[in-house]
Amino acid sequence: MNILILGSGGREHALAWAISASPLTARLICAPGNAGIAQVAECVALDLADHAAVIAFAKEQKIELVVVGPEAPLCAGIVDDLEAAGIKAFGPSKWAARLEGSKGFTKDLCKANNIPTAAYERFKNAAAAKDYVRKQGAPIVVKADGLAAGKGVVVAETIAEAEAAVDMMFGGGLGDAAWEIVIEEFLDGEEASFFALCDGETAIPLASAQDHKRVGDGDKGPNTGGMGAYSPAPVMTDDMTRRTMDEIIKPTMGGMAAMGAPYKGVLFAGLMIGKNGPKLIEYNCRFGDPECQVLMLRLMSDLVPALLAARDGQLKNFDLRWYPHAALTVVMAAKGYPGAYEKGSPIENLSEAEAVPNVQIFHAGTKTEGGRIVANGGRVLNVSATGETIAQAQAAAYTAVNKINWPGGFCRHDIGWRAVARERGNG
Ligand code: AMP
Ligand code: GLY
Repeated sequence: MNILILGSGGREHALAWAISASPLTARLICAPGNAGIAQVAECVALDLADHAAVIAFAKEQKIELVVVGPEAPLCAGIVDDLEAAGIKAFGPSKWAARLEGSKGFTKDLCKANNIPTAAYERFKNAAAAKDYVRKQGAPIVVKADGLAAGKGVVVAETIAEAEAAVDMMFGGGLGDAAWEIVIEEFLDGEEASFFALCDGETAIPLASAQDHKRVGDGDKGPNTGGMGAYSPAPVMTDDMTRRTMDEIIKPTMGGMAAMGAPYKGVLFAGLMIGKNGPKLIEYNCRFGDPECQVLMLRLMSDLVPALLAARDGQLKNFDLRWYPHAALTVVMAAKGYPGAYEKGSPIENLSEAEAVPNVQIFHAGTKTEGGRIVANGGRVLNVSATGETIAQAQAAAYTAVNKINWPGGFCRHDIGWRAVARERGNG
């Protein structure tokens, strides 16, 4: 079949890599794509906010399935618009994507369905929000209700910090994303990313992963979109996976279906695993980036039938197989990220790096300029590897990183440290 992927990051490169390997794929197009994706798909320039243009293109190219990578078009209802035009699309509807698009919506859904999550209140004005902060004390977490490109969460250590976050958000610091805010209890524990494939009724677990959100070694410095990830997450034991499905994912599916917004697509639960088990931190309505990269390296089954079964409501008897091996990815970013960074610096020796056994390099933000690959974003490369253990995958990934000649870039040097320490028996 003819398949169109929407997006341009490392997540979309990993999806394109997996989809291009399917015997079901005739033509694979990615919009807008990047220089790495261009190795496995045709890339075309399309404005994803212009749904009519995407639909016209899909019709013209006889696209039979559209796979949507990022949250913005999902929350804007691109799946509804494609489906209304008679084009099959993988991902949640606009109403179902509220699980990512509105934190207050998700918290209320959790409350109504007894899903374990941090205690919270929703606020539309600063005075009431600050009152609540002072009553609850610190640490406390302040969140913008809407999509804020990863900047919408402040984990405040002090009451003053929480009050400043309230003022920043209601002062317009995050634009429309914070016309309403959620203030919630600080949760202690270990974070994990959990993914389920959903068809509106049935959810089946995908694999688990952990990512490193902070920019610096030792998990220090500002938050980023993710500086690296590995799968499986050691904290997600079989028992924890079962509890997450039973206590969080299944009641969410039931609650969404009951309100007439059945959830289809990938449901990405950010979890805090604490003394009493898993609690939901937040939902995303898509694959994680860079978690998707390590998931695709571990997926043994053909991805395309799985996406179709989710779209078609046919997951009930579906089974996915995974390689038992571990996968790890190191994000290489442009110097300055997550602050201001420059575009255009040349990247060399990628083929030498890719020749390292068990290594796969996904491009997150690159383009071709005069026959050379140059940086074209904040997160630029995902140097990924598999291994029998996370330590082996880590060693292979860093061997490849060290072969890449990119003076304009940097990476963390400790991706996977917690899991590697566990494997050594020190965790
Ligand atoms: P989010 O964008 O909701 O994933 O939040 C970003 C990060 O903030 C999470 O990955 C956590 O590290 C942290 N965080 C969010 N909510 C809480 C909470 N209630 N307790 C502790 N940490 C939190
Ligand atoms: N890596 C976290 C995310 O995709 O939101």
